[in-house]
Amino acid sequence: MVKPNQTDIVLLTLPGNEAQGETLAALLACPTAPVLLHSFPDGETLVTVPEGLQDRCVILVCTLDHPDSKLAPLLFAADAARDLGARKVGLVAPYLAYMRQDIRFAPGQAISSRTFASVLSRHIDFLATVDPHLHRNHALDPLFQLPCAAVAAAPAIADWIAQAVPKPLLIGPDSESEQWIAAVAQRLGAPYLVLEKTRRGDHDVSVSEIDAGAWAQHTPVLLDDILSTARTMIAAVQRLREAGLAAPICIAVHPILSGDALPALMAAGAARVVSCNTISHSSNAIDVMPLIAAALPQYCLPQA
Ligand code: R5P
Repeated sequence: MVKPNQTDIVLLTLPGNEAQGETLAALLACPTAPVLLHSFPDGETLVTVPEGLQDRCVILVCTLDHPDSKLAPLLFAADAARDLGARKVGLVAPYLAYMRQDIRFAPGQAISSRTFASVLSRHIDFLATVDPHLHRNHALDPLFQLPCAAVAAAPAIADWIAQAVPKPLLIGPDSESEQWIAAVAQRLGAPYLVLEKTRRGDHDVSVSEIDAGAWAQHTPVLLDDILSTARTMIAAVQRLREAGLAAPICIAVHPILSGDALPALMAAGAARVVSCNTISHSSNAIDVMPLIAAALPQYCLPQA
């Protein structure tokens, strides 16, 4: 049962998002409650939302790494909240899935970002996420066709680097990372380099060489949006070490870190792996919830 508060926002957390939900609720001074899931023996899921959602702006908190199993419960929860009287139903997905599948890379492939966006858009009224992988799509709104906040983690990352890293040299492992690297470097007034990546398979990645010349006195900081297999970051760490630079600090906005990614990255020579709390992980050190909280209230206004 959700109890009324000074705001009409109610945050409902899907499993695994409780910490982020608690932080957001404290920042927004609103109540939070869990969405309960029960798995039937046949693999179907029963979703139960709390009572007391009438006329509230309900915001579901559900980060979308490993999205396929999360999607059905999320859609059931969104529709249940609306059926039970929510006046708006929004989604905070600090990590938004399928954004990299934004083109048919080979004949017959699905353009999953389009379908994923279109399905979600039919069930929610607004979306807030952090640094979505916008590459060939330049903005979220045309894809989702609803109000979207794409919150930049750069200020929080820059603040963390400023207090933890002396004389940072920012390095992006591929051209797509330049958007994040440039924003953080500008805020820090630090130099940055961007490497070129060739990906031949999920675990088969190489990046261009680094000319260490001017950077021997700097602390290398590798920064990318997504750490999944970590093979991109590992290839970059290897290049840095070959060039004689110090062991780098590796920062990811979205720490998916599947399989052996984290131990493999440490074994390759990373000094430390640090991430934003868009996905709960032991590497979380950078809190982006204040940035999300600041973006949310406008979407709950009746006219928004
Ligand atoms: C792709 O362009 C992204 O920005 C990341 O570089 C990529 O998703 C990292 O994937 P992985 O950790 O599997 O190499």
